[in-house]
Amino acid sequence: MNQELEQFQRVENQEVSTETNILLPTARVDLFVKDQETLEAARALKHDWRFARVTISVEEGNVDSAIKNYAQSAAPDLVIIETETTGEEFVQRLQSLSAYCDETTNAIVIGPVNDVDLYRSLTSMGVSDYLVKPVAFNVLSEIIAKALIDQLGVSGSRLIGVIGAKGGVGTSALTQGLAWGLSEQLKQKTFLLDAAGGWSTTSVGIGFEPSATIHEAVSAAASQDEDNLKRMLFKPSEHLTVLATGSDAMLEPSVHAQQFEELIDWLMQSYPVVLVDLSGAIPSLKKTIVTKAHELVVVTTPTLPALRSARSLIGEVKTLQGGDDANIDLIVNMAGVMPSKEVPKKDIETALDYKPSTVISFDPKLFLGNENEGKNLTDNKNGTEIVSKLLPIAQKVLSGKMTKTENAKDSFLDNLLSKVKNKG
Ligand SMILES: Nc1ncnc2c1ncn2[C@@H]1O[C@H](COP(=O)(O)OP(=O)(O)OP(=O)(O)O)[C@@H](O)[C@H]1O
Ligand SMILES: [Mg+2]
Repeated sequence: MNQELEQFQRVENQEVSTETNILLPTARVDLFVKDQETLEAARALKHDWRFARVTISVEEGNVDSAIKNYAQSAAPDLVIIETETTGEEFVQRLQSLSAYCDETTNAIVIGPVNDVDLYRSLTSMGVSDYLVKPVAFNVLSEIIAKALIDQLGVSGSRLIGVIGAKGGVGTSALTQGLAWGLSEQLKQKTFLLDAAGGWSTTSVGIGFEPSATIHEAVSAAASQDEDNLKRMLFKPSEHLTVLATGSDAMLEPSVHAQQFEELIDWLMQSYPVVLVDLSGAIPSLKKTIVTKAHELVVVTTPTLPALRSARSLIGEVKTLQGGDDANIDLIVNMAGVMPSKEVPKKDIETALDYKPSTVISFDPKLFLGNENEGKNLTDNKNGTEIVSKLLPIAQKVLSGKMTKTENAKDSFLDNLLSKVKNKG
């Protein structure tokens, strides 16, 4: 069977596929439709968990309403238009609409008749899909999900790595503080994992019994075995999920960087924020995350050996991030641990040639007290203040605008323009 025809018929019998059963990227979708059933389906999209980050606007209208709208305000990522007619006049109106769309806008058309030729001519114009009204909820949600994934990539999720300039500087404690801040205070669905294998202390900080190894987690990722992964998860609160690893043998080899990356990619399909504690990771895993992360938090203490390492580390991280240090945050932890022997705050910036984002005081009563009593930082006032000091870093990560992925498809406008150019 003709491939296009096959695709056309597949649209008619749409079911949720594993490919689209993910949290969709941040996007704006506008619908201009008149058919009542389709309108209801469009309005119900906001109840689909996959659309949590998609802003959907539904207007009773058609291509002319869209033109009127975008003559005044910016076009969305995806525009869906219902039409009563399918002739040359409609195609011209669609061309007029494309003049108001920017180069990232895609379009889907809903029409009155089941017509493969029309489907073919519209898709060749750059329209992502042609559907026949009325469009049921599951068809509409699936088609939009697929269009957004093709257009924007699988995930608008953010990856944050936290790395210590040296051992014992408090990287794990602060990663956990950041996890609480993101999940409790900013209400972000957050995933925390510790890359240290058997050296992980996250189970003590968060309060769980390790039930899995990093090796098991990467195998689950390799076979996309969600049920297997589920048994490795610990959920300390509504918005925070932790990979309950830590039962790895301490003296056996770690997983490979490529396997670890596969796990991270998989997790980022379902969690908007993935936070990785790199304090006990082997260098190749550190490098993988440093290269990939949207934000890299470097933790140091105000002592000479740590600052010396921090300086070298920031230099290497900067190189791996393409010479840019905009996504690096430096935290000076345990300030005041030994005032007479530590580098004063004002000299740290000069010594590192880098301005710390925040400075956290040495507070053994709070940190060690919490550890002994099985509490987390947000359980007490001083701890909550520390978490608040970390929040600007978390907010910076969340505000990062999504970039188009390399494999993203050409937009509606790109295709229309190239078609017009080819004609000329
Ligand atoms: N600001 C602080 N004041 C007092 N104690 C702290 C502070 N930050 C962390 N700690 C404590 O210091 C100890 C080491 O912290 P943590 O385990 O987080 O360090 P790490 O850098 O992850 O270590 P490792 O290199 O072993 O992974 C812990 O007992 C922790 O509670
Ligand atoms: Mg640690």
